[in-house]
Amino acid sequence: MKLNPAAAAMAPSGIREIMNAAWAQPDVLHLEVGQPDFPTPGHIVDAAHDAARAGHTGYTPTTGIPALRAALADKIRERNGFSVEPDQIVLGNGGAQALHACLVALTEPGDGILLPDPAWPNFLMMAEVLRLEPAYYALTPANCYVPEVADLERSVTPRTRVLLLNSPSNPLGSVIGRARMVELLEFAARHGLWVLSDECYDEITFDGTAVSPAALDRDGRVVTVFSFSKTYAMTGWRLGYAAAPPDVAEVLAKAQEPLISCLSTPTQYAGLAALASPSAVIERMVSAYRRRRDTVIGQLAELGMTAFRPSGAFYAWVDVSESGLGAREFALRLLDEERVAAAPGTAFGTRGEGFLRLSLAASEEDLAEGSTRVARLWNRLRASGDVRSAR
Ligand SMILES: Cc1ncc(COP(=O)(O)O)c(C=O)c1O
Repeated sequence: MKLNPAAAAMAPSGIREIMNAAWAQPDVLHLEVGQPDFPTPGHIVDAAHDAARAGHTGYTPTTGIPALRAALADKIRERNGFSVEPDQIVLGNGGAQALHACLVALTEPGDGILLPDPAWPNFLMMAEVLRLEPAYYALTPANCYVPEVADLERSVTPRTRVLLLNSPSNPLGSVIGRARMVELLEFAARHGLWVLSDECYDEITFDGTAVSPAALDRDGRVVTVFSFSKTYAMTGWRLGYAAAPPDVAEVLAKAQEPLISCLSTPTQYAGLAALASPSAVIERMVSAYRRRRDTVIGQLAELGMTAFRPSGAFYAWVDVSESGLGAREFALRLLDEERVAAAPGTAFGTRGEGFLRLSLAASEEDLAEGSTRVARLWNRLRASGDVRSAR
């Protein structure tokens, strides 16, 4: 029987390969997983429990309970710097499903989409399953891993419909500053593009340079997706949301109906409690990520390696190109010889070749030890003749 060829042909995740191999072995340091190592704060768990006990267990409106949409409009005004009405907010089953729904609302099969390379691999999976034509813009050390308009100009075509931005970026931790964001919006306006802004790491930033394109948007072309997953250590709760111009939000709400009907009701009450948390709840986790970033970057530098210093998210992007091995081979040998699991850069796109992503969602001790072991393998490979001949 025939299946959807785009879904059937989807490439397996390059992170999953390492993760599966790592879980089969004892005593491995896990630096491959992209989710907070903190538990969901207790008051958030209690709120879901209380809501379920109080009978909040039925369907809700597709777009979400009104109290949560109103609280999210306040959050966006206060923390993201732009104004939306509650009915411009549509909840999703995590940021992932909200992004997918946005693409359903914004595109038709055959439309072009501009994606970052390297990038979170699910963007490409979504594009493929929706039969969009992806084109890439390069995030490289030379441009500090932020998009360049000249590069986008080379990739855009008359069929391009969406520019996807992800700041702070997974896997890079780079953040697009205000001036570049203005240029990107001008580029989008010149070519009549929607800007789909993935800001799932919006509250995990270290230097205050992040800006939402929607805060600079003058003509209603930006749709933003946020998530509770990273900010509040709630990956398994599946709570994300899109903030869209009114006409887009209306279509988005329609698109969500057949996809999810609505979100888990206790999860929505958990979201309300999360938003009402004292700011210390987020600050405590962000300062831990900042300390870990400094430990890893500092230690790798001392050992002679180069890693990008992230301004947000919780990843270190480490250059292993001088090892002479491809990123996947390096990650497999790292697991085998040094018992460290890390994501190969190639799991995020062709421009990830020669890089490794270390997740900072691990203890400082594990990160210090993990960095030492990465550098040990790197130095061993650089010194060994067999690697040079294997190039
Ligand atoms: C860049 C990026 N966007 C979106 C998501 C989606 O997260 P969630 O669906 O848990 O909200 C992730 C998760 O890893 C991510 O890294």
